[in-house]
Amino acid sequence: VSEPGEGGFPTLSDLEALASRRVLDHIWAYIEGGAGDERTMRENLRAFERWVLLPRVLEDVSAVDLRTTLLGAQCATPFFIAPMAYLGEIHPDGESGVARAASGAGTLAAFSTLSTHSIEQIAAAAPDGPRWFQLYLQPEFRVSASLVERAERSRFSAIVVTLDAPVLGVRDRQTKGGFAIDSSRPVGSGEDVLPPSRVPVLQGGTYRLRSDAASNWNVVRDLASVTRLPIVLKGVLTVEDARRGVAAGAKGILVSNHGGRQLDGAIATLEALPPIAAALGSEIEVYLDGGIRRADDVLIALALGAKAVGIGRPILWALAVGGATGVGHYLSLLSTELATAMALAGRRSVSEIDRALVERRSVH
Ligand SMILES: Cc1cc2nc3c(=O)[nH]c(=O)nc-3n(C[C@H](O)[C@H](O)[C@H](O)COP(=O)(O)O)c2cc1C
Repeated sequence: VSEPGEGGFPTLSDLEALASRRVLDHIWAYIEGGAGDERTMRENLRAFERWVLLPRVLEDVSAVDLRTTLLGAQCATPFFIAPMAYLGEIHPDGESGVARAASGAGTLAAFSTLSTHSIEQIAAAAPDGPRWFQLYLQPEFRVSASLVERAERSRFSAIVVTLDAPVLGVRDRQTKGGFAIDSSRPVGSGEDVLPPSRVPVLQGGTYRLRSDAASNWNVVRDLASVTRLPIVLKGVLTVEDARRGVAAGAKGILVSNHGGRQLDGAIATLEALPPIAAALGSEIEVYLDGGIRRADDVLIALALGAKAVGIGRPILWALAVGGATGVGHYLSLLSTELATAMALAGRRSVSEIDRALVERRSVH
């Protein structure tokens, strides 16, 4: 692979290899690693290979429009940046750099509770957004509520509550690589802001977790009572939970298994998506993340009912290679690739990416 200039890389397919040479080994283990034997992480990618595209021709694709609206926010692309922790450890530009790059592209970005920069710094870096705030439930509801209120004051436009992390997954690759997610790692939004607990502790015959692990569906109503912002539930993989979330007031469901970093063996997100989108896609917005790497992945997920898709690790690769400039370059390459794929598929707009575009591969 040829070495690119500042922030640049020739194609999307070069990016992972380039990034692996730009960060220390323990950071690479943090970025790339999944839970356990990484079955779910691999399955997220493989699930896309089970679908083929059925392009239409002669559809006048002289103008292709990638724009969409996500919970009322105008977005230039039907993909967004998934929330990810500790971006400042990957590149000094950190979350502020990602916010600038995303906002410059008009792409929605979600920012983690565990950001290196504070909620207010992220907002100041890119006042126009669009951006969402991702909440990890805190042991005390008061701390969760205060994060949500700060995000609302800083003009984030939705709250994404991550529900698949009552405890961290078994992160073997991180453990071996020497990267620990724990309270010793500084978080920009305050010393009282904590990551999910690391491991259950055996106490008097049962394995105990922190009080946030005691949460039930009431917490969605409790959060809705402290903010006017729409709530998105992240980490939902079943129709039953999606329905309960909507009944509790959620306006969006993000079908996610945390990039295979939480429950190893959990269903691939692309397999979980179709029934959830079919059951609820007309009432609320349904999104997917996990394994989105190229424009054809975006097409398949949208055809199967996602309103938009989140992108995780590739953003970190771009950040590692070129900081904010790298992320901007990545978003531009992926947008152009998506416009190309839509033209080749005979789809002029995001709303034309319909179920007829995909078919399950007959032999696998
Ligand atoms: C390094 C890293 C850190 C992450 N941190 C968070 C986080 O703080 N909160 C969260 O809800 N999800 C987090 N995620 C999960 C992502 O939001 C997303 O679900 C996942 O990365 C999508 O899969 P992909 O990496 O295959 O695109 C993280 C993922 C990675 C790779």
